[in-house]
Amino acid sequence: MSNYETISVEKRDKVAVITINRPDKLNALNSKVHAEGVAALETLRKDDSVRVIVITGAGEKSFIAGADISEFAGQTPVTQRNLFHEKTFFNSIDTFPKPVIAMINGFCLGGGNELALACDLRVASENARFGQPEINLGIMPGGGGTQRLTHLVGEGRAMEIILTGEMIDAPTALQFGLVNHVYPLAELEAKTMELANKIAEKAPIALQLSKEAVKFASKSNLDEGLRREVDLFAICFSTEDKTEGVAAFLEKRKPNFQGK
Ligand code: COA
Repeated sequence: MSNYETISVEKRDKVAVITINRPDKLNALNSKVHAEGVAALETLRKDDSVRVIVITGAGEKSFIAGADISEFAGQTPVTQRNLFHEKTFFNSIDTFPKPVIAMINGFCLGGGNELALACDLRVASENARFGQPEINLGIMPGGGGTQRLTHLVGEGRAMEIILTGEMIDAPTALQFGLVNHVYPLAELEAKTMELANKIAEKAPIALQLSKEAVKFASKSNLDEGLRREVDLFAICFSTEDKTEGVAAFLEKRKPNFQGK
């Protein structure tokens, strides 16, 4: 479906799988991956036949081993700071309206962990290892790591991961709530696709509004969040999918949601 150099995009029924395809560099994120990731998401956003995205890395060793360190040499404080205002793969995922699942098949480090954190759900293989090793390079996370990791696992755990730069294994990541599920590598793809397909059958507008409401929880206080939730809940009542969902329940049949 795509003509990208560093990623591939495959549509499997209602689910699109984006694979970062630099296995010889453990799928490190260079500027081309960011640009192609942003472009792919923009195409998939407009494609109504795609309801859920899965992002993974090529090979059996690594999801993403971080930012491409070889690109750091030529970068200045100004180029790095401008990243905040640019469309990166991270913020395209974060603001993507449809659910995005990280399928983590090995090293999930630095920018790789930050990319996984920008996704809505994380499913990992037993061999996956997680970390924010930037401190070992004399730098710190810059792709959302200090913020999203803290929201997800709490300040104490985030501090230890970021200040030591050490990796944690998949069972620890599961215990911390950093990932939703851990499976043997051989089952990772089937289990992740099962989850993706299950979500892809739900009402697309309600999925989008639910995602928006949940994400708002970490950006607001409880009163603002509850107000936003009820507004979004009310919007669901204007959709054909709500009519279909309620009718299907009453008629004891499976709903057929159209995203309208
Ligand atoms: N950027 C650029 N290249 C990377 C990379 C990264 N983040 N991570 C791995 N690579 C490259 C290696 O340079 C090597 O390339 P080469 O074969 O041309 O020399 C190749 O990927 C394989 O990596 P290698 O280090 O040989 O594998 P390993 O199994 O011995 O170690 C890691 C795996 C993940 C522990 C190690 O590669 C590593 O520490 N990577 C950097 C992780 C990091 O600091 N990420 C945060 C960046 S801010």
